[in-house]
Amino acid sequence: MEKKSRGPMFDRPSPRRARFATAAAIGLLALAGMANAQPTSPIPPAIEQAAREIATELGRHCPVAPAGDTAAYNACRRALFGPSALRSHLPDFLLWGRQSKAAGATLRQTNLTQFAPDVWTNMYAPLFMFNGRHTVEWVPEERMFRVQLEAAFRNRLAPGQFPYPFWHEESKWAMYENANSLMLWMAPNTAKIRAAQFTDRAPNAMLQPVEPVRHAKHEGQWLWTDEKGKTQPAVTLFDGVYRPENPHIKAMDRQYRDLALQMRESQCTQCHVPNNPDKMSRLVLLSTPAHAAGEIDRLIKSVREDRMPVDEFRLATPLAADKREWLLQRAEAFRAVVQAAQDWEKNASPASASAPPQTAFQPTQQR
Ligand code: HEC
Repeated sequence: MEKKSRGPMFDRPSPRRARFATAAAIGLLALAGMANAQPTSPIPPAIEQAAREIATELGRHCPVAPAGDTAAYNACRRALFGPSALRSHLPDFLLWGRQSKAAGATLRQTNLTQFAPDVWTNMYAPLFMFNGRHTVEWVPEERMFRVQLEAAFRNRLAPGQFPYPFWHEESKWAMYENANSLMLWMAPNTAKIRAAQFTDRAPNAMLQPVEPVRHAKHEGQWLWTDEKGKTQPAVTLFDGVYRPENPHIKAMDRQYRDLALQMRESQCTQCHVPNNPDKMSRLVLLSTPAHAAGEIDRLIKSVREDRMPVDEFRLATPLAADKREWLLQRAEAFRAVVQAAQDWEKNASPASASAPPQTAFQPTQQR
């Protein structure tokens, strides 16, 4: 476990050292005003502790493993999806995405996607593996702390283990495959992670060599049925985190498909899909059961209040009454089954639990 130290005095903060450090930082600030250098500021203990807890947890539950190891991935998913330290630092909606290719781009200038904690801890964060090494740094431009975690990406999982085919865009897949770090942007006053990004340009070495995977060309389907008749991506039906005997999974699948038809009728799918046709800077995804489940309350509210859909100028264009009713009815039915599935997981006795089945996948066959 490492933190970036800005000189020996910050290595092990004691209260006295911290005071000294603050005084030193103020002195530096004054100097910085003249020399235009970056002031150093000590990392508050609460931030340092949060970063350490998260990094330790990630290193323990999501250690570096072969990049196609589904069992390791699912163990990591269950740990982060459960009451994890990571999760306890997430806000209601987290921004997530790639580091911008533009040098010096701020978060404001970077396109990101909005995720509820359920969505991100189930399908995004666990795609990475960690060694626990991290640095914490104050970034004045963002007025946030950046926790930079050394990381590697599980690029050799089966296609249905990703929330959607990231390879629909070559540069996106390339950055995922070659990622060497995850960055968590922490608010100074709350230690909440407001945004998270991955990058292939962190200063640390790769954690393990990457064997690239070439997937078949993406045909524009965000949800599909595999040759066994199973809905894919399986992770979007909580496969691997919910128990296989959860009796509500099938209904969730069916209700989502009903809702999706209605969303298509109501233009929602013209914008709320991973290829982001509307170029939203804060994309909202509704294209799979898990993504829609994370947004269902906001979905219902925005339709009830006639804020969605919007037209090409982003002006609200209320739906005709009958379409609106159908959409709301489908959304409520989907919400009910999502809730039932969650409740079942909470209440089913652990003794009756069986380990979720592991999907066998040979990425080499895909080449
Ligand atoms: C022309 C593109 C477009 C269409 C069509 C559209 N949306 Fe949106 N939607 C947006 C944009 C833009 C935002 C704002 C994202 C942001 O926060 O920056 C948004 C935000 C949302 C949000 C989350 C934020 C909130 O307001 O609470 C939900 C949920 C949502 N839309 C649902 C829907 C549904 C349901 C439909 C179909 C009835 C729909 N949208 C149709 C573009 C669209």
